[in-house]
Amino acid sequence: MEKKSASQNPLKQVLKLREELHQWFEIQGKDLPWRKTEDPWAILISEIMLQQTTVAAVIANCRFEKFLEEYPDLITIAKAPEAQLLKSWEGLGYYNRVRNLQKSAVAVLEQFEGEFPKDAATLETLPGIGKYTAGAVSSFAFDQAAPIVDANIARVISRVFDYREEIDSTAGQKQIWKWAGQLLDVRKPRLFNSAIMELGQTHCSPRNPDCAECPIADFCQTSNPEELPKKKPRKKFVVIEEHAIISTRKNEILLVKEEGSRRNGFWRLPLKSAEEVAHLEPVSKHRYTITNHKVTVFLYEFTQAEGAWVSSDELSKIPIASPIRRIIESHFSL
Ligand code: ADE
Repeated sequence: MEKKSASQNPLKQVLKLREELHQWFEIQGKDLPWRKTEDPWAILISEIMLQQTTVAAVIANCRFEKFLEEYPDLITIAKAPEAQLLKSWEGLGYYNRVRNLQKSAVAVLEQFEGEFPKDAATLETLPGIGKYTAGAVSSFAFDQAAPIVDANIARVISRVFDYREEIDSTAGQKQIWKWAGQLLDVRKPRLFNSAIMELGQTHCSPRNPDCAECPIADFCQTSNPEELPKKKPRKKFVVIEEHAIISTRKNEILLVKEEGSRRNGFWRLPLKSAEEVAHLEPVSKHRYTITNHKVTVFLYEFTQAEGAWVSSDELSKIPIASPIRRIIESHFSL
């Protein structure tokens, strides 16, 4: 794989590289709601929300603003019951994120008198806050010199340095974080981290990168950007089948509350084993994907099951995972 002969070494030319990147971002950077604040609590919410939810989805539904309005400070979230938290996070998935958000709020109140620590190393000691999130809060809220690497930044860096090893190995992660630290402008960390992330979200896209418009193309060492970054082969999907009961009377539906599982506190349809429903015809079939599971749900009517009767009014107020809510809603709009 050849290197581009004309390009300038990114580390030797790092001052110029930062300057170009900053200029581009000052003009092209998006005006996102969490970029208008320096409140570490608001920034932490945005970062946790954006971990598994796209910027477009968060923006379209004003999820960041709504969550911040409901939990404007650490004390409000610290006091919130779990069912309320889950309801506030409904539709975003990966609900441990909101549980951890509450735990980290409690930790800041108890260990730091309600003041977020500024440095990434101390932030990383908080529950659910990893290296990326700690660096993001430290640099975006406090403008501290902490590097960050998310998927977008890792892509930019692997291309700039024409790094052809797997970036998700231990050695690969170490190398990418090292380069992120070397590229970082320690005098303008907030600006630099925002800009390199935005470049990964725009011109330096996974497929068909737009190198002609890239502000740092002169420093980029790769000739084959669409081949980078290299990653370990993906794990296969686990296929599972579920047999769920849809039992109704008047305007009520039979539901059960999950306990002790990953979806602790959520309501769902009662489940049966394949043997228990072997003699029945399903009324409908639904598919959804969650992490590495491909789930097929078969629905059966009028079958004996344990559970609680929930009225249609209550249905909108209790936490139900989105795929399950969609199944219930589609059943009633048949
Ligand atoms: N994705 C994750 N964090 C982000 C941020 N601070 N700005 C834009 N996109 C993001």
